[in-house]
Amino acid sequence: MKKRYLVTAALPYANGPLHIGHLAGAYLPADIYVRYLRLMGKDVVFVCGSDEHGAAITVKARKENTTPRAIVDRYHEILKSTFEKIGINFDIYHRTSEPIHHETSQNFFRKLYDSQEFIEETTEQYYDESVGQFLADRYITGICPVCANPDAYGDQCEKCGSTLNPTDLKEPKSMLSGSVPVKRPTTHWFLRLDQHEAWLREWINTGKLNGIQLHDPAKWKNHVVGQCNSWLDQGLQPRAMTRDLDWGVDVPSEIPGSEGKKLYVWLDAPIGYISATRQWAIDQGKDWEPYWKDEDTALIHFIGKDNIVFHCLIFPAILKAHGGYVLPVNVPANQFLNLEGRKLSTSKNWAVWVHEYCEEFQGQEDVLRYNMIRKMPEQSDSEFTWKGFQETNNNELVNNLANFVNRVMVLTHKYYEGKVPEFNAAQTFKSGWTNEKPVIQADELKSMKEKLEEMSAKIESFNLREALMHVMEISSAGNALLQFNEPWKTIKTDPEQVKAVMNMALQVVATLSIALYPFLPFSSGRLRKMLLLPAIEDQGELDHLLKSLSANEPILAAGHEIGEASHLFSRIPDEVIDQQIAKLQATDVANKQDSGDKQINYQPMKETIQFDDFMKMDIRTGTILEAEKVEKSKKLLKLKVDLGFEQRTILSGIAEFFQPEEVIGKEVVVLANLAPRVMMGTESQGMILMAEDPDGKLCFVSPDKGWPGGMGVR
Ligand code: 2FM
Ligand code: ZN
Repeated sequence: MKKRYLVTAALPYANGPLHIGHLAGAYLPADIYVRYLRLMGKDVVFVCGSDEHGAAITVKARKENTTPRAIVDRYHEILKSTFEKIGINFDIYHRTSEPIHHETSQNFFRKLYDSQEFIEETTEQYYDESVGQFLADRYITGICPVCANPDAYGDQCEKCGSTLNPTDLKEPKSMLSGSVPVKRPTTHWFLRLDQHEAWLREWINTGKLNGIQLHDPAKWKNHVVGQCNSWLDQGLQPRAMTRDLDWGVDVPSEIPGSEGKKLYVWLDAPIGYISATRQWAIDQGKDWEPYWKDEDTALIHFIGKDNIVFHCLIFPAILKAHGGYVLPVNVPANQFLNLEGRKLSTSKNWAVWVHEYCEEFQGQEDVLRYNMIRKMPEQSDSEFTWKGFQETNNNELVNNLANFVNRVMVLTHKYYEGKVPEFNAAQTFKSGWTNEKPVIQADELKSMKEKLEEMSAKIESFNLREALMHVMEISSAGNALLQFNEPWKTIKTDPEQVKAVMNMALQVVATLSIALYPFLPFSSGRLRKMLLLPAIEDQGELDHLLKSLSANEPILAAGHEIGEASHLFSRIPDEVIDQQIAKLQATDVANKQDSGDKQINYQPMKETIQFDDFMKMDIRTGTILEAEKVEKSKKLLKLKVDLGFEQRTILSGIAEFFQPEEVIGKEVVVLANLAPRVMMGTESQGMILMAEDPDGKLCFVSPDKGWPGGMGVR
């Protein structure tokens, strides 16, 4: 293990509040990890802050007819207080608009410039003549060249996840005026990522740089390494590190041609981790440099999967090009959390907003934390539902954890006036862990220690969901201990054994008050209060606990007095959940109305036909069995469609909107008696009916699920 840790959580854009996807993606995992490190007595600095530059901010300001400064001031405060409310405890929550950040990023730029890491290049970029501005990144939309999403941004398609350049978009449109932009030459500084490709490949895949082992690649998540390799395999290209913008960090003024140029937000944002650390050090009277420059520091970036390339390739290249900085030992990116079957979306308000949750569920912050961990998208995308939230609370937090703690507290007051009972160390009882022979307390303490070690191993390998499950197993074992020994029955017949059982149950509760701390800090605090134990102070409490358990020493001494019992969690009734679901449904209705309010250019109605004309058409239900691209055709997919009574080959002009694998299994409606037609050398035996929006985008017209093929449609 390294001597010190510098843990970062992605700087959120200060253009909107925090939703549960952000929480589950980067912030909660980072917070759990840091709390754990501190419980193990490690030296950690945990930094984050608002990302206040970039088009995300200026586009929002323009939409709201206000200034970028007003936007970042508003959302910085909201983000900061939301993190505090949900118990994400950064050492510093900084801002990239602070002068110290501008200075730090400009120094980086200067250093890279002086060491000739940049090439200066004049390229043609889109320019909006009506507003007199170049259109970087998010200022431009158009059709994605990969998946044909008509709303792709200049830097990324949110539908297929492809990273793009504005000039890749088809039919580009300016976000500022809606007009068609023109290309104009402009000069920028490009980081020569191509020159960093070889070492990045080796470093990512083997952990080695110049023969020195810097990290263990086996500890990196597969999807993170996979994404990096897919970038590397495509070949890294020089990437512009400056933009023509009026909001951001200025390119240092002594550099010729710097006028009107700002640093690319993805250059300045990660440097924000460094400026935040510098500010923290000033505030605390500490030295920031060892946290970034000493080889005995473990730098770990917690992010969502959309930030992988920036943290695993581009920022490391910047750090190495600058020289003197450590590289991350891990970037445990998470995938995405979906909400009730759909992608979370800030613009569509399809989200559970964390600040609203904290208002509406006061005192239940840990219920959200617990749910986020249970559904954490650690290896693949996952799904949050309100029903699931309720079930998890009622079945796991209430029935397992809260009930166990309550029983122990109540029985201790009832039998021993709230004091931990003395017990005979040789006394045997039934174990909560195994159903085999009777055990003595030393055996139970050992089992608990082993479980804690499993939890630690899971946290250290970033499997936080499994780590939490190990903690819950400790609670389950506590429940089983009571259930198997039934102290309420044996209190009269075998009081010595009841003492041993209750003493052990109290040791379990005390252990939970520490083990829960990384995951459910509010509940851990309540437990400590109930037990009249000092609050956790991040002073290596778990390390001490493991040592005590190894030495077979109970944590709570006999005679220790405990406080009043209170409920850690309570059942969430259906009405509360129904309200939340209704809130989401209202969003859905509002979204539909909004899109209904938009000016839609409906296609003109065709001529009237007679009933007999319609009756000539034989329309059937069917299922797509196979799909493949048609060579040399951009538009056509070749489909095999099952009509129940026979299978047909149908060529369908949907290739710009759907990948073959997406349509296999789709239930469709087919015009079955259309005369066959040969296209691209293949006979098409029918037509799949599709709906078409005014922009020409197609979607399937499908029968209700489960219709057998061949049914007539009228
Ligand atoms: O994706 C985002 O929300 C970015 N603001 C993350 C920046 S992370 C870091 F580089 F600062
Ligand atoms: Zn796309």
